This record gives sequence, C-alpha cells and structure tokens, in this order.
Amino acid sequence: MCGIVGYVGPRPALPVLLSGLARLEYRGYDSAGVAVLEGGRVLACKREGRLSRLEAELAPYLEAAGSAAPGACVPGGTAERDGSRARVGIGHTRWATHGVPSDENAHPHADCHGRFWVVHNGIIENYRELRAELQAQGHVFRSETDTEVVPHLIESLYRGDLAAAVAEAVRRLRGSYALAVMSPLHPGTLVAVRQESPLVVGLGRGENFLASDVPALLEFTRDTYILDEGEMAVLSPHAVQVTDRGGRPVAKEVFRVTWDASMAQKGGYPHFMLKEIHEQPGALRQTLLPRLGEEGDVRAEEDGLDPAWLGRFRRVHLVACGTAYHAGLVGKYLLEGLARIPAEAELASEFRYRQPLVDRDTLVVVISQSGETADTRAALREARARGAGVLAIVNVVGSSIAREAERVLYTWAGPEIAVASTKAYSCQVAVLTLLALHLGRLRGTLPAEESRRLGRSLRALPALVEEALAGAGRVAEVAGQVAGHEDVFFIGRGLDYAVAQEAQLKLKEISYIHAEAYAAGELKHGTLALIVPDTPVVALVTQPALREKTMSNVEEVRARGGRVYLFAPASLASGAAGVEVLTLPEVDPWLAPLVAVVPMQLLAYYAAVARGCDVDKPRNLAKSVTVE
Ligand code: AGP
Repeated sequence: MCGIVGYVGPRPALPVLLSGLARLEYRGYDSAGVAVLEGGRVLACKREGRLSRLEAELAPYLEAAGSAAPGACVPGGTAERDGSRARVGIGHTRWATHGVPSDENAHPHADCHGRFWVVHNGIIENYRELRAELQAQGHVFRSETDTEVVPHLIESLYRGDLAAAVAEAVRRLRGSYALAVMSPLHPGTLVAVRQESPLVVGLGRGENFLASDVPALLEFTRDTYILDEGEMAVLSPHAVQVTDRGGRPVAKEVFRVTWDASMAQKGGYPHFMLKEIHEQPGALRQTLLPRLGEEGDVRAEEDGLDPAWLGRFRRVHLVACGTAYHAGLVGKYLLEGLARIPAEAELASEFRYRQPLVDRDTLVVVISQSGETADTRAALREARARGAGVLAIVNVVGSSIAREAERVLYTWAGPEIAVASTKAYSCQVAVLTLLALHLGRLRGTLPAEESRRLGRSLRALPALVEEALAGAGRVAEVAGQVAGHEDVFFIGRGLDYAVAQEAQLKLKEISYIHAEAYAAGELKHGTLALIVPDTPVVALVTQPALREKTMSNVEEVRARGGRVYLFAPASLASGAAGVEVLTLPEVDPWLAPLVAVVPMQLLAYYAAVARGCDVDKPRNLAKSVTVE
C-alpha cells in the first residue's frame, strides 16, 4: 500500500526522502516520486516501477550538488536544477487504485501552477464531483488519480495561509486520506493531515519528519507524534503544531519507538520472508512468555482481560482478512474445544456487509498484523455499533485497529516486512491459544491442571518451532518437486484443515502456483476428480483422534496416482506406506498448528525461490491493504 515521507530541516532533503521510501518498500507499491523545495523552486521526479528507477534518475542530484538535472524529471516552469541542496520535501510510494501505474499518476501531484504539492494515501471517494467542479473553474488535470483534486482544491481555496487552505480543502473531501502538502510559497513548512489512514510525525532537533509508517523514521529519530483522526500537523524545522478538526491546538504526547532499526533489515537472509520465518521462535517467546507463569498459568488480566468483561460473552466471532483470518480459523477450533464457547471465524469483508447478528453478548475478536486493514477496521466499527465487545489482536502498536478496539492483545512479532505474513500468523495463533486457555478457565470448561499443562507446553513451544525449522533442507527438496507443478492440494481435518488453509494461501501468493485446501473428508465430494497421476497433495496429520480418517483420504488420493507428502509427527506417521513422510516434532495436538505451519511456510518460500519469484514483494499484492 502507499507510503508517505516528508522532511523539513537543515539536511539535504532528497537522501532523507529516498531512505525513508526505501524503508516503506515493504508496503508494496508500483511507482514512486519525490518533490523537494529550495529557494522557492521545486524539483519533482516521479517514476513508475521500483524505487531504484527513481534513484537512478536522481543520481546526479544525489552525487554532485549543482550537476545538470535530467530534464524529464522536471515539471514545466517550476524547476530549479539543483535539488541536491533542497531542505524541504515530500516523497511517496504509490499502489494504484485510481488510474494505472504510470509516471503521470505517481505522486506528488501539483496544482495548475506548481504552487501546491501533495502526496496522499487512501481514497478520495467524491473525487469525480470535485474534479468536475474544479475543471469547470478552469483547473487543468494531468493525471487520472483521485489525489490530484487535492492540490487543485487547495489552489482554489488559498488566501495566503497554507494550513487554513488545507483545512478547508479536507472539509470538502469524503473518504480516507493521509496527506502531506508542500508549497514554494511557504518554504520551510510542511502541512500534514490524516483521516482513516495513518501518519506519524518524527521529532528531531532543528528538523522534523513525517511518515505513514515508523520504519521510515528510525534512521533519524525515535520520538514521534502519532496523529489521530482529523488531526493536522504543521511542521517547520523547530516546531510541530498539531490541531484537531476544529482547529484547536492539541497537546500531543511523545511516543518513543523502542524497536531497533536493524530489526527492519534482512539480517543476512536472502529475503525478509525467510528471516521472518526464522524469527518465529523469538517472536513466540516475546509474545508468550510475559503472559505465562513458570507453572503455566495464563496472566491475562494484565492485558485487560478481566473476568467482569470477558464473563459477559456467550459467543465469539473472529473477524479478519487473509492470513489473519486463517489464524482466526485456528482460534475457532481452540475456543470451541477448550473454552466450549460457540465461535465463528469470518472474513471481515463479508462480516461488515451482512448485518451480522452480534450484540453485547458477543465478543468480536478482530485480528490484524498491520492494524490498518480497511475491511477489518470497518468490521470492528460495525461490531462496536451493534454493541459487541471488541478485542483486537494486533502487531503494530498505535495502529488504527489497536486504538479503536475496546481491548488489545499485542502480538509482539516485531516489524513484518515481507508481504507474505509468517511470524505475525504464529503470534496471532499463540495469542488465540492463550485466550482459549484463559476463557476455558473462566468458564470452568478447562480444569486448572490441564490449563497449566498446556501453558507449560506453550512455554516449551518455541524450542519445537526451532526443531521444525531445522527440517528446512528436506522441505526445500520437496519444494523443488512441487515447483514444477501448476496445481497443489492441501488436506487435513480439524486444526490441520485450518493450517492447510494458511498453507495454500502462502504457496499461492508467493509462488503463483494454484493451490487449494480441503477438509480431507470433503475430497471425495468433488475435488477428487482433479487428482491425476503425479498431482502433489500435502497431507497434514497432527491430530491423533483424526489420524485414521485422514489416512483413509490419503489412500483415496494414492489410488488415483496422486503424490502424497505427509507432514506428521513420527508417532502418527508410522506405518504410512507409499507416501513421502516429512517428520514434525512431537507436540500437543492443541498446539500443533504452531509447529505444522512452519514447514508449510518453508514449502511456499522454497517453491517461490525455485520459480524465480519476487518472494518479498509478490505481484499485485500489498503488505497493508488500507482500501476496500
Ligand atoms: C498474508 O500473507 C497476506 N499477504 C494477507 O492475506 C494479510 O494477511 C491480510 O491482508 C491481512 O492483513 P493484516 O493482518 O495486516 O490485517
């Protein structure tokens, strides 16, 4: 999804902006651009494609002050050929919504005379009517974007006060936006405003920064203001003034970011995804251990899960998108199995429009790595409007979903950069397991000793994940075989079916192999027709009670010539014939998803590498999906 950076201060702005944009690449984008300002003039450069294209174009500015500028980068009439000394600037990575990915549609966008420059995340829903109105006034548009109405609107409203014009302009906007505005008429000033799209101010000494996400700031500062809905910030080198929607000053608290910038780097791995897969034991320790006593007691009340609040709920809805939804599927089995409370996992994009039957007896658990997913956020609001209790399981501190939910359980997975979610999923499942144990105790469905036993097993779980990671070599071999196919099936029952769902998404999204997950017992009701000799079928068998049934389904596949890869602990794999066995660590069946998902992630990863795919930035996908 789109990324915003901004800078005002004594440093050359271009390197600051490009470095910030590089840190936001993980969000997914199709074009990038910058506009910098010095001496009342603007240098702007926008390019479709990777940031490296933009950097190559700007190399002369970055390398030698005063060197000749590539004319193609400079918008007519407003350019100065010396961007290297610029001290104010805005930058953007765009993920196309309105208008194809192109140089013209890339941000920043300007008004007719190059006096107001804007970068924008989100969608302006009423842009068509605004555009028609502005065109009727004589404004000339250069792009197909919704964003371009903003600089023209500011131009039409400007009476000498930039912040006032921006404030008036946003009053005309419907939809979601994080905006950064720069003007040669106000050198040394940046104006930023947000509505339903995140924006963070980075506080420096004699300089200030702006970004849609914290990693872009970490090279420069850890002190931030997280802007709230409707807030506007006016940044100059020595001051940041924040006002609310009504123009009243807001005294912001400084939020100090504690995680390390190096955590957002690849750390020696060829891809972020592989690094993040290998970070799972550590991420699980961070997520689980502060919440588990030595004896396995769950300490949930410190997270605000007090009996008075939790005790009121009669049912649970787990609502999320993509991988987070698959974590919710695991949560459904755990909550029903351990806490004996009716639980449904639902896609947020469906939940929000189906007039869900939720009320104050319902606990809606929204799950999101980014905390910014538009559908999940809308589902959260729908649930709250209907009186349900809302608990968020979120990875990004201070994100919109974290702030809008009634209670929050953070997954301390650290920043997840690869578009394909791995460690965030594991931590979501870990937190859901804790929730199920806690609710089970509260509801009296789980005896204290059984709960503590599972708690102790959870404490030991990161070591089992390490053991599963040690099997990567064998998984890579299987991935090499699977990579040559165009269709792969995953089967399992119960919790294994939930993990199979995540396995198929992972394979699909990064290797572009068509993959489907089926409840093993459902295969014979249709999908078995697709099994022909050599079709790869991955069977997950971690649930002793369901082993025999799934093995019968494996036989059905084998009888049609399908090639079965069986992932199971040795105790459940013994006696399996005619299949390739990949042994999983022995683990309590309730906790098996946390172990079984690891080779599924590795399988997808190595298959994608074997097919030469762009693992961390799969085509057409974005890390944070902040539009419907
Ligand atoms: C995960 O691999 C996907 N790229 C995607 O399904 C993701 O899980 C989904 O978009 C939800 O994101 P969130 O957790 O940030 O809300």
